[in-house]
Amino acid sequence: MYLLAPLLFLPSLTLASSLSSRQTPPITTWNGKQYRCKTYPGDAAWPTASTWSTLNSTVGGNLFKVVPPGASCYNSFGGASMYNQQQCSAANSGWSKEDWHAEQQVTNMWTFYTNHTCNPTATRSSGQCTLGHLPEYVIMAKAKEHIKAGVDFARENNLRLVIRNTGHDFMGRSTGFGSLAINTHSFKSVAFTKNYTGPGTYKGGAVTAGAGIQVRELYRLANQQSPKVVVVGGECPTVGVAGGYIQGGGHGPLASFYGMAADNALSFEVVSAAGDLLTANTESNPDLFWALKGGGPSTFAAIISVTLKTFPEIPSAGVTLSIRSTGDLFWKGVAAFHNLANTYVENGMFVYYELSGNSLNIQPFVGPNMNKAKIESVLKPLFDKLKSDGVQYTTATREFPTFFELYTAMFQDESAGFSGLVGGRMFTKQDITSNGNGIVNAYKTVASSGGFAIIGHIVGPGTGAPVVDNAIHPKWRNASSFSITMIQVEGSASLSAKQTAQDRLTNVIDKALRDASPNGAAYVNEGNLEEPNWQEAFWGSNYPRLLELKKKWDPSGVFYAKTTPGTEEWESIQYGSKLCKRV
Ligand SMILES: Cc1cc2nc3c(=O)[nH]c(=O)nc-3n(C[C@H](O)[C@H](O)[C@H](O)COP(=O)(O)OP(=O)(O)OC[C@H]3O[C@@H](n4cnc5c(N)ncnc54)[C@H](O)[C@@H]3O)c2cc1C
Ligand SMILES: *[C@@H]1O[C@H](CO)[C@@H](O)[C@H](O)[C@H]1NC(C)=O
Ligand SMILES: *[C@@H]1O[C@H](CO)[C@@H](O)[C@H](O)[C@H]1NC(C)=O
Ligand SMILES: *[C@@H]1O[C@H](CO)[C@@H](O)[C@H](O)[C@H]1NC(C)=O
Ligand SMILES: *[C@@H]1O[C@H](CO)[C@@H](O)[C@H](O)[C@H]1NC(C)=O
Repeated sequence: MYLLAPLLFLPSLTLASSLSSRQTPPITTWNGKQYRCKTYPGDAAWPTASTWSTLNSTVGGNLFKVVPPGASCYNSFGGASMYNQQQCSAANSGWSKEDWHAEQQVTNMWTFYTNHTCNPTATRSSGQCTLGHLPEYVIMAKAKEHIKAGVDFARENNLRLVIRNTGHDFMGRSTGFGSLAINTHSFKSVAFTKNYTGPGTYKGGAVTAGAGIQVRELYRLANQQSPKVVVVGGECPTVGVAGGYIQGGGHGPLASFYGMAADNALSFEVVSAAGDLLTANTESNPDLFWALKGGGPSTFAAIISVTLKTFPEIPSAGVTLSIRSTGDLFWKGVAAFHNLANTYVENGMFVYYELSGNSLNIQPFVGPNMNKAKIESVLKPLFDKLKSDGVQYTTATREFPTFFELYTAMFQDESAGFSGLVGGRMFTKQDITSNGNGIVNAYKTVASSGGFAIIGHIVGPGTGAPVVDNAIHPKWRNASSFSITMIQVEGSASLSAKQTAQDRLTNVIDKALRDASPNGAAYVNEGNLEEPNWQEAFWGSNYPRLLELKKKWDPSGVFYAKTTPGTEEWESIQYGSKLCKRV
């Protein structure tokens, strides 16, 4: 019996060896180094049409071969004739709108990492339209089983897997050359409770939100509860709450009051890299729960939903401020504003501002649980300083019965379709106290380097809220300011122009901010893909545990996002296209 077994099982042995050769990809050599890559179109192991078709049945016909929306402006795509005037003009007008992108299968709002090989063109184009770095296939998931089927298919076939929610990622992590994408945008279920009964010590209101729920939707639904409630979400109306945002930490207008979004997560429903549907909270899979709260987007699991704490609505006041003076007085104004960051967050405030060239627009200062008199008294030291320095400015104060009304009235909508590189730096209270003017001088370096701008946030998630044990960089507990640096670069620019811009961002612009803030850190959702020592910069002392948990929960690297735990051995070779592991 024992001896015969190998003979009897010969056919399946052959099958097993062909499977295992599929699982061990061949060696690829690039720039003198050896790699094993994910499987790509043209490789022998790339799934056949009938295998894709089986997947399509498993996901209820929701699998699509990707055709970039810009293809409608070109004569042809992939050999098929394409031009369609109506679709082309819709793609052109949608391109600059966040809401349009959120509804698309795979486009990115920040287009740089798609490689600009098929952006919509103003007039009919006879040029080439190719996928560039967009995925090959996308599952428009409608049920959790579809997410599971996509994760299983990618794992079993060694495909690059991309999870795409809204397409907001500044750093190109919701796109990927030759990949299979799972789009989670349709997971819009929302359930509020006044009395959370899950595990853990928390008692109070909570909401369970599907992965596809976006910030403003959730704020609005929270505002429609009786009594009205609020949640910690982002400043941007269209970012997905449960996608990359919370997995990277998640700051926002109420974060100095209630902590980061990741501090407010009570439970996650996920599909693991092994394809298991799991719950992660203090009782079930607590180590995964810890990692999902800030350990990195698309790193530990695919999220189906998150349960978050809710809080009672609060009256709120807001202030706008623009500096009118130019030259030295302008920078005195910037210093007067930014050097008071600790004061703002110690009062529970959040501030959003944009700084470039000779322009500082603060819109708005958010004062949760404040009225007009209160916010003006908190800001009195700022106005006193501006006046004594002789800085010209314009300002306005408004008060609202609820945070939601302030949010709707005072935050501006943002546009999409911008192509550029981003970096950034988080500043702690110690840095503001000991080197506030040095930080403002670094801002000056940024703003006076042609093309660079700062998107700034005054935020102190460790100020008002209790400290939660999770994966976010512990330095967030001491933070009072976080800035994004950005510069415009076309995705179609030459490789050397792209590298020059990236080097300038990393080694001049972000370096100035790093040098000015020895106690600072960086933010994985709004950071520099070439951040030096990114493990330390994004996670600090939490990194070793995150690396261990990545090895436990995703040993073969089914999930991938650049500069997240465990990606040290992975590289995008061939000009950012094929994802490969060094051997
Ligand atoms: C205009 C703008 C404003 C922003 N404002 C804020 C802000 O106020 N506060 C803040 O903290 N951040 C902010 N961000 C950054 C934001 O948090 C990140 O871009 C975040 O990654 C977006 O997540 P998403 O799911 O909406 O986007 P996507 O681009 O779809 O996904 C981003 C990342 O998350 C992964 N991901 C998406 N869905 C899932 C899922 N279901 N399961 C597992 N992984 C998933 C993706 O694979 C990718 O790696 C802003 C970004 C932009 C562009
Ligand atoms: C999957 O099935 C649907 C419905 O039959 C079809 O519209 C779609 O084109 C199929 N996808 C692929 C990749 O063949
Ligand atoms: C990406 O763009 C570069 C030019 O910046 C080009 O050389 C390269 O071929 C493109 N790659 C793909 C896969 O589109
Ligand atoms: C919440 O549930 C607990 C236990 O079931 C109960 O004692 C408490 O009164 C409830 N609170 C509210 C606000 O409903
Ligand atoms: C936060 O600041 C305090 C006071 O300066 C310091 O003792 C502590 O180590 C800091 N925490 C982190 C995580 O940097």
